[in-house]
Amino acid sequence: MRYTTAAAALLGLCAQAHAATATRAGFGQLADGTKVEAVTLTNSAGMSAKIMTLGATLQSLVVPDKAGHKDDVVLGYDTAQEYLSRPDYFGASVGRYANRIAKGKFALDGKTYTLVTNDGPNHLHGGTKGFDKRMWKIDSVSSGTDAKVVLSYVSADGEEGYPGELKVTATYSLNDQNELKLEYRATTSKPTVLNLTNHSYFNLSGNDARDVMGNMVTLHAARFTPVDATLIPTGERKAVSGTVFDFQTAHRVGDRIRDARDQQIRFGRGYDHNFIVDGAAGTLRPAARVEEPVSGRVMEMSVTAPGVQFYTGNFLDGTYFGKGQRAYRQGDAICLEPGVFPDSPNHADFPTSRLNPGQSYVNTIVYKFSTH
Ligand code: GLA
Repeated sequence: MRYTTAAAALLGLCAQAHAATATRAGFGQLADGTKVEAVTLTNSAGMSAKIMTLGATLQSLVVPDKAGHKDDVVLGYDTAQEYLSRPDYFGASVGRYANRIAKGKFALDGKTYTLVTNDGPNHLHGGTKGFDKRMWKIDSVSSGTDAKVVLSYVSADGEEGYPGELKVTATYSLNDQNELKLEYRATTSKPTVLNLTNHSYFNLSGNDARDVMGNMVTLHAARFTPVDATLIPTGERKAVSGTVFDFQTAHRVGDRIRDARDQQIRFGRGYDHNFIVDGAAGTLRPAARVEEPVSGRVMEMSVTAPGVQFYTGNFLDGTYFGKGQRAYRQGDAICLEPGVFPDSPNHADFPTSRLNPGQSYVNTIVYKFSTH
């Protein structure tokens, strides 16, 4: 009996040694006194992810390189207030509608809704005070095979002009296989439109030692959605073959990014386009692979979403000073934002962004890290 207990205790200890852990702590406060918290998920393979309650934001993501050195591979700020003072969606959970809605207008069941225009003539990333600038609640924190945090936010009917009360959760979990999984879920009280995503800016060199021009990128996408000069899709689904948008095999980001013979590169100032992920939306399938040749870090992304916005930090202009007072400049990061296509509410033939009462919205993203 005593032996069994001892063996059980030992087994328990071993399990614990390999378990991923979640710890909750304060993360300072905002200028108005609001207290911010953060949960750090740590696995036994050297990875950790810190998620803060402001914007359900991935504030840091520490990943070992091929020599085992651990570095933070996402852009952001050291303090919560800076995420509000100089917002650029660093690591944020974006909603209600990530990406653009043309002229801030859409119709649903015969009624026209008007949203703020905060990106030239268009609505961007949920408006003036989107989900990235809201305080999310920590619903649960758990350790085990996965270290996990569930955050939630209730968006009132009419918030930022969108219909329906929307109840949203963001679940981040980290396992010992170096997979960070992120799942957005939502339900609504009235028919509405939504597109929830995460807007992490990845720089796999760690601490932004280098820009991302030398990163090798593969996008599992045979087609993309070309845009007009204001970055609204024209409606076309264009084959990438023979264009600078063909990342079906690995290409250096920088090789074709300055090819201004392509009007789409001129419109985007580089890459800022939605790629249509191959395969069936709704099933988790490979969308992208990014490899940083010097550190050897590799990130593979799988998604359930129909599309992924590939954005190369084209608006970073050296006036954003991030973690460790580092100036962020154009091309310092890669964003891969899985979701429905931009401006879907105004394109009947795009995958739908509509959610009805009684339905559950799910958007799952898996970021898997390894070294090459
Ligand atoms: C998205 C958009 C970009 C830009 C960034 C945030 O990636 O597509 O055009 O607005 O968000 O700066």
